[in-house]
Amino acid sequence: MSGPLLEVEGLKVHFPVGKTLWKPGATVRAVEDVSFTLEKGEVLGLVGESGSGKTTLGRSILRLVEPTGGVVRYDGQDVTAAGPAELRALRSKMQIIFQDPYASLNPRMSVRDILGEALMLHGVGSRADRGARITALLERVGLPGWAADRFPHEFSGGQRQRIGIARALSVGPGFIVADEPVSALDVSIQAQIVNLLSDLRRDLGLSLLFIGHDLSVIEYLCNRVLVLYLGRVMETAPVGPLYTRPRHPYTRALLDAAPVAAPGGQRERIVLTGDIPSPLAPPSGCVFRTRCPFAMPACAEAVPALREVAPGHSVACLRADEIDLASR
Ligand SMILES: Nc1ncnc2c1ncn2[C@@H]1O[C@H](COP(=O)(O)OP(=O)(O)OP(=O)(O)O)[C@@H](O)[C@H]1O
Ligand code: SF4
Ligand SMILES: [Mg+2]
Repeated sequence: MSGPLLEVEGLKVHFPVGKTLWKPGATVRAVEDVSFTLEKGEVLGLVGESGSGKTTLGRSILRLVEPTGGVVRYDGQDVTAAGPAELRALRSKMQIIFQDPYASLNPRMSVRDILGEALMLHGVGSRADRGARITALLERVGLPGWAADRFPHEFSGGQRQRIGIARALSVGPGFIVADEPVSALDVSIQAQIVNLLSDLRRDLGLSLLFIGHDLSVIEYLCNRVLVLYLGRVMETAPVGPLYTRPRHPYTRALLDAAPVAAPGGQRERIVLTGDIPSPLAPPSGCVFRTRCPFAMPACAEAVPALREVAPGHSVACLRADEIDLASR
């Protein structure tokens, strides 16, 4: 393969809502013109407040939600144009794990049946070697062999997440969307699951889109970060520069709000006030302008382009070159 494993270009997801026979309805602009690439073995963190479009973006890449526009390519293949048969084949290469694995694990099926079903659906291995594959998968995610004959309710939250990861791995994917996979777990368990994902990335060369709220987890696990606000990319950069020298006021505000951030010295912190505006009627121009302490009249006029300010570091802010967001 040459080029990135995953290419996302101008992706849009709009949801029509409220249309009745008597009124025209409106459009939720959940994802708006998102572009990025992901290399093999890379972990991209996706951050942004609740409602910023992270889940919708992750799901639309896999076509679990239909994109309204834009293109997704996996290993050069156009995912957005794939027909049903191609999409089924792609599903074994691109998988997802959820915040609440319990909701997606059939309570009446044993772990063996859950994993066996995934293997069978994707035609992985022969009937005869499925048992050995299931044992190997359980071992891979740190569960004992006897777990195969237990049911989802017999496991703790962390163990269930391991089952969810085993199911995603069963079909041999190259890319996994992990949608807040540790947010619902106790802090002590979170680290174990994050370490498991890190090991899988290293051992299997997996690429991950890791959606999360906890910036210290993102810093530990990810190579790069994409900051989303009202469905748009505000900033993207390798973890180091993003955390030490963010260039977008929204990124700075997220870091300032994180309990892990060291005190900002003399610098005044950016405190986000009010809620994220409705994606039914996003602000004109820069969508962050209604909460940005640096906004000026020009910010209302045009959507700022995502501009590269350093290698691999891009920012969508008209004033990125003049405002000083000195590091923590
Ligand atoms: N099926 C849908 N129909 C209409 N609106 C939707 C639909 N799915 C999501 N939305 C809206 O799209 C926006 C983005 O939602 P999304 O769930 O992607 O955000 P998120 O960043 O994952 O939030 P969270 O951190 O709370 O998980 C929200 O305003 C949400 O209400
Ligand atoms: S473009 Fe303007 S409103 Fe948007 S982040 Fe930059 S300074 Fe703030
Ligand atoms: Mg979400």
